[in-house]
Amino acid sequence: MPMPVIAVHHPLVRHKVGLLREADISTKKFRELTGELARLLAYEATADFPLETTTVQCWSGPAEVEQIAGRKVTVVPILRAGLGMLDGVLDMIPNAKVSVVGLARNHDTLQPEPYFEKFVGHLTERTALIIDPMLATGGSMIATVDMLKRQGCRDIRALVLVAAPEGIAALDAAHPDVRCWTAAIDSHLNEVGYIIPGLGDAGDKIFGTK
Ligand code: URA
Repeated sequence: MPMPVIAVHHPLVRHKVGLLREADISTKKFRELTGELARLLAYEATADFPLETTTVQCWSGPAEVEQIAGRKVTVVPILRAGLGMLDGVLDMIPNAKVSVVGLARNHDTLQPEPYFEKFVGHLTERTALIIDPMLATGGSMIATVDMLKRQGCRDIRALVLVAAPEGIAALDAAHPDVRCWTAAIDSHLNEVGYIIPGLGDAGDKIFGTK
């Protein structure tokens, strides 16, 4: 069984997460760092994509080169904070299609319910890379995986900037087959569901709202 959560320990990742935590960070800087971290997480999360060899006409004649073997990808930003990671992931995987999920908490059940879902076709053949900066309780991530599985998607991966142990445990319990790459695993959730030390409200910081 694959490890459900992979904390990326690369020095660039650790450095950039540290910068992201500064309380008075500007919207511009938060966006830039989120994009940079999304690129690095996408790099890590695709490290097992299979390669095939092909021949190209090189300046010196025919040369054998490697290319990714027909892997189709859909990136799945969870609205709205997930959009902050989208450009970074697409920089690394420019041919990926984008599926979008919006979830809101039902006030009676307290469970996340979809208010928007737009999936690209042929999900049975695609690797899904769900993007959401914060894995807090795990509710939105689990609901998104549920939706992708209902669409027939079989290879589902998640990329987050910061994960709480509570969210990791919940995701592992609900979907042990889904691996999650994170730039940091933090201490805990506070009483209102924010990650400590965390980043604060990632959506507000990406969009400049308060
Ligand atoms: N969502 C956020 O933006 N921040 C948290 O700490 C938890 C959920």
